[in-house]
Amino acid sequence: MKIFFRASFFLLIICFVVPFYNLTLPLIFFLSLISLSPFFINTWLVPGGFAWRNPNLNPSRIPGPVGWPFLGILPQMGSHAHRKLAAIASSMGATRLMAYSLGSTRVVITSHPETAKEILSGSAFSNRPIKESANLLMFERAIGFAPSGKYWRHLRRIAANHMFSPRSVLSLECLRHHVCDNMIEKVSKEMSEKRIVELRGILQKGSLRNIIESVFGSGLGLKIEEELGFMVKEGYELIGEFHWGDYFPIRVLDFTGVKRRCHRLTLKVKDLVGQVIEERIRDGGGIKNGQNDFLSVLLSLPQEDKLTHDDMIAVLWEMIFRGTDTVAILLEWIMARMVLHQDIQAKVQDEIKEHVGNHRHVKDSDIPKLVYLQAIVKEVLRMHPPGPLLSWARLATHDVQIGKFFVPAGTTAMVNMWAITHDPSIWKNPWDFKPERFTEEEFPIMGSDLRLAPFGSGRRVCPGKSLGIATVHLWLARLLQQYKWLPSTKVDLSECLKLSLELKRPLKCRVIAR
Ligand code: HEM
Repeated sequence: MKIFFRASFFLLIICFVVPFYNLTLPLIFFLSLISLSPFFINTWLVPGGFAWRNPNLNPSRIPGPVGWPFLGILPQMGSHAHRKLAAIASSMGATRLMAYSLGSTRVVITSHPETAKEILSGSAFSNRPIKESANLLMFERAIGFAPSGKYWRHLRRIAANHMFSPRSVLSLECLRHHVCDNMIEKVSKEMSEKRIVELRGILQKGSLRNIIESVFGSGLGLKIEEELGFMVKEGYELIGEFHWGDYFPIRVLDFTGVKRRCHRLTLKVKDLVGQVIEERIRDGGGIKNGQNDFLSVLLSLPQEDKLTHDDMIAVLWEMIFRGTDTVAILLEWIMARMVLHQDIQAKVQDEIKEHVGNHRHVKDSDIPKLVYLQAIVKEVLRMHPPGPLLSWARLATHDVQIGKFFVPAGTTAMVNMWAITHDPSIWKNPWDFKPERFTEEEFPIMGSDLRLAPFGSGRRVCPGKSLGIATVHLWLARLLQQYKWLPSTKVDLSECLKLSLELKRPLKCRVIAR
């Protein structure tokens, strides 16, 4: 109402002044700015900016950048958002908690492990903010975006007990080897044909195949696998694309066509995944037929736990979507580091030789003995976390106190894991790549210690973490056992934040069989 009166008053002045003094346009603009300035000062020049304009929302004055009118710090986000947010927080002394605006969305972010624990483990932040493209792509019926409640807990239980239990992860070892054999063959072929290996494509295809067969079993056929690959790629683009409706209350509009494309993709996914499910049901599929893929697991659930047809599509589609890029991206980072640090590569190869030898392949059961290899993976997760802002944020379902700050319900909360893992007060020489820092003492990375929690923490911690890490360990060990990896051009570690934090330019290298 106040805004309405101010705007009417401003219009009245303009109507009176313009004809009377016969003013030029620039002058009118200047006058407008002057008369609107109290409005801007009131509603925009507050800690955190535009979205925090109501003083009741920030009574404890969480510090934060003012940003642009209406846009907040949206223009500063982009492919280095994690670095920019870390720099702003540090310059304002707001590493514990910082407020900012993304359009009309209120956000708080922490770059501190203790506050991160409070946010991720507290019950107040067990929902995700609604991203329209994610909802349209059915993820609100899957684990990642389902509101915290009975249905979401049911999905998490199924995932923990049946899909990602230690027994299920182990039962997929054979598949991991099979896919890795295939990748090793492709590396050799590329090397002999082009004298250079571009690992990204090989890892992406391997990772996609691994997750598709974990979800649907083998024998789906190359055509369907390829089609699923295109769908995942399109899904990544759509979720990563900027959508005005996520930051402003204008959900009906679709300036960029994202909503239209999401609808089209969802129809395709429903059609294809739906057909696969129906075919499996016709074949009487279930674990009793000896299959251990996720679809068989879902079809074999007791009646009271069973999911509807559409919910099953959403869950299986999400698994393929989430399980593909994270593993491939992390492995590309690790291999870039191995190519760059030849001494570290030689040291881990010695470790593999000592514990496994060269006459058989590394197995899952060898990994606990490969302490240095595990340390390398941890060090890469520290320096290049695939989710530097922990992928998807959390949403406060009710008012909550974080340390000395009041955070109102409806606020989006983020953790800047990248800032934590590069903080010199937490990590000695954080910019040095030094796996040895993890060999001296056991350091858990599954979410109990927030100094390094690349899979998140608390109720919404990544359910696929054991499968993801088992895949990365095994493939890394086998790639290093098979080849010596050498640079072909200078290794470029520039990064780019899309849905995950990727190497900006694909790694190019050479290999020599060992
Ligand atoms: C290197 C591999 C991976 C990394 C670094 C990773 C990282 C993450 C992170 C940071 C989150 C957010 C956690 C939070 O909010 O606290 C997450 C959530 C999730 N991840 Fe992963 N992930 C990986 C592999 C996988 C795999 C293989 C799958 C499934 C096949 C998977 C499925 C999911 C799902 C469904 C969620 C949403 C959980 C929820 O909201 O309840 N992830 N992941």
